[in-house]
Amino acid sequence: MSVMLKSALRTLPVALLCAAILPATAQPPKRATIMDEAQVAPYTLPDPLVCEDGSPVLDAQTWREKRRPEILRLCENEWFGKTPIGKPKAMRFVVREEKKDARGGKATRLRVALLYTGKEDGPQTELLIYLPNHVKGKVPIILALSFDGNFATTEEADIPLPHHWVNGLGIQLKEHLPAESMRGSNSHSWPYDYALEHGFGVATAGYGDVEPDYPGGDKLGYRSAIKAFQNGGGSRMGTVGAWAWSLSRCVDYLGTNPRVDAKKIAIQGHSRLGKAALWAAAQDERIALVISNESGAGGAALNKRIFGETVGDLARRFPHWFCPNFAKYSENEDAMPVDSHELISLIAPRPVLITSAVEDRWSDPKGEFLAAVAADPVYRLLGGDGVGSTQWPGAPGFVPGKIGYWIRQGKHDVLLEDWKTYIAFAESHFRSKR
Ligand code: GCU
Repeated sequence: MSVMLKSALRTLPVALLCAAILPATAQPPKRATIMDEAQVAPYTLPDPLVCEDGSPVLDAQTWREKRRPEILRLCENEWFGKTPIGKPKAMRFVVREEKKDARGGKATRLRVALLYTGKEDGPQTELLIYLPNHVKGKVPIILALSFDGNFATTEEADIPLPHHWVNGLGIQLKEHLPAESMRGSNSHSWPYDYALEHGFGVATAGYGDVEPDYPGGDKLGYRSAIKAFQNGGGSRMGTVGAWAWSLSRCVDYLGTNPRVDAKKIAIQGHSRLGKAALWAAAQDERIALVISNESGAGGAALNKRIFGETVGDLARRFPHWFCPNFAKYSENEDAMPVDSHELISLIAPRPVLITSAVEDRWSDPKGEFLAAVAADPVYRLLGGDGVGSTQWPGAPGFVPGKIGYWIRQGKHDVLLEDWKTYIAFAESHFRSKR
């Protein structure tokens, strides 16, 4: 399937469904989309190092005990919604397969079921894991959700089809089996062999098997089966929060695997899943490093900088992604009491890599870089370096630091050259970590 057709399928059904269920008056009128730097209006960002009572944050303790919880609360109440619980008591992991000679003998492949309620017939997600055979002992690992499920990340014929829903096939309100022809269709974004050769494990699960991506998709995922997820009002967790929660459950499992170095668990996410990756790492400090690829508005890009996609676009097209309160800032981004540089600062001092692509202007590459720059003072306060330069680099360009930044030529996607940067970034930060 062509990339354009796939991307139309990805957004069109959701947009149609939203138009059908939302009253026309529910959203303020849309401003014209800005794609020209000369038209960007001035904006003011909240200072991550000034508390709500106006006092400055001068030391790590005040950050940790006072300011960080304030920002976390704002992200919960106004953006992603509150995460009501961690790992459910009844949840368990079942190793469905361990194949020692996968990928031509390079990898041990595991398939592990995350049984959210502990029941075989309850909601579940299958985690696919590759561990390099040539490394003895524990390995660092990159965990990432995928759009179309495990079977689309690899040509291997014996990876089962997803349970519920596959993004590239559009909306399905019932359980269905996707076309076998999609097997391996996203493998260009999953260069497992490259990661394995560099001594990294990779773990993945399909986001549609966590929670399908449309309003009401929570009825098919784990949220419908666990009482704590059922309420929440204006700060009810959105779908991005639901995906973020599942990343933490994957980390729960990875922490039990004797071959995985639990201090070197990195997560990656592309686009909407890059939004989820940032939010997961902000909440879960076991995540040692995060890579947010072209995550755009509602992710790494500054929401108050009006360029490309806006909060208004998100609220209209994807009302289920964030908590109901988020819609208050539709075409009203100035009023948002928090922004993406503060989301990033919640991850400090852990390394974070923000990545962009030049032609992906919808995601506002410059706004993604400027968020990294605006998060820098928090990283510096906590004693590390922040972002290595305040100059937005040309593509291909890499800015090192605890907040790294990478931009390449080309479109919205995940390519081998992106993975090369991920691995180099993770290697450089994990090297010093014992
Ligand atoms: C749409 C959406 C973005 C999102 C992207 C994706 O383009 O507007 O916010 O990041 O889909 O997830 O691919």
